[in-house]
Amino acid sequence: MVRTAVLVSGGGTNLQALIDTAERGEMPSVELALVVSNSAGAFALERAKRSGIRAEYLEKAAFEERLNALLEAEGIGLIVLAGFLRILSADFTRRWAGRIINIHPSLIPSFCGEGYYGLRVHSAALARGVKVTGATVHFVNEIPDGGEIIAQRAVEVLPGDTPEALQRRVMEQAEWIILPQAAEKVAEMLERS
Ligand code: GRF
Repeated sequence: MVRTAVLVSGGGTNLQALIDTAERGEMPSVELALVVSNSAGAFALERAKRSGIRAEYLEKAAFEERLNALLEAEGIGLIVLAGFLRILSADFTRRWAGRIINIHPSLIPSFCGEGYYGLRVHSAALARGVKVTGATVHFVNEIPDGGEIIAQRAVEVLPGDTPEALQRRVMEQAEWIILPQAAEKVAEMLERS
């Protein structure tokens, strides 16, 4: 198993999908060992605590230094960004190249990059009038949402969709399915390497 850290900023529904998948025994190569948030009130931290996973909030000051120390101390081999809204430095992403993945709520290269996060992604998709959107899991590099794509899953846009309704459908029908699958696939690869 690969000891895995999940970085979060908000509600943690993607973290919950990882936890539930692990509990069903469907993510055998991933050991959820640590959850770190850059937001003190993130409900994701509560989700981690309820599942007995070490949960830490790191303040803005010296965030990456403290994060590196935590990752080191816990012997982490894979990082999963799950609704994590802080940009990580080029230094950090280079150090973790091939061992850090992110879930983005669109079919990259659409509606991604600088400024595209959370509901803004779905508002942009609705404004453009796309009939299909979805989610993408990709490796993280120094370009926001720029790394190699690992998995994608399409979701239909329905007439009358609000950004909130579309976000919920993309989470339920795409994010919560492909993130655990991608984490397992990458962890398996890392175990064999
Ligand atoms: C959501 O917009 C989701 O689409 C994206 O990050 C945001 C929060 O996700 N991946 P979560 O509920 O904190 O996992």
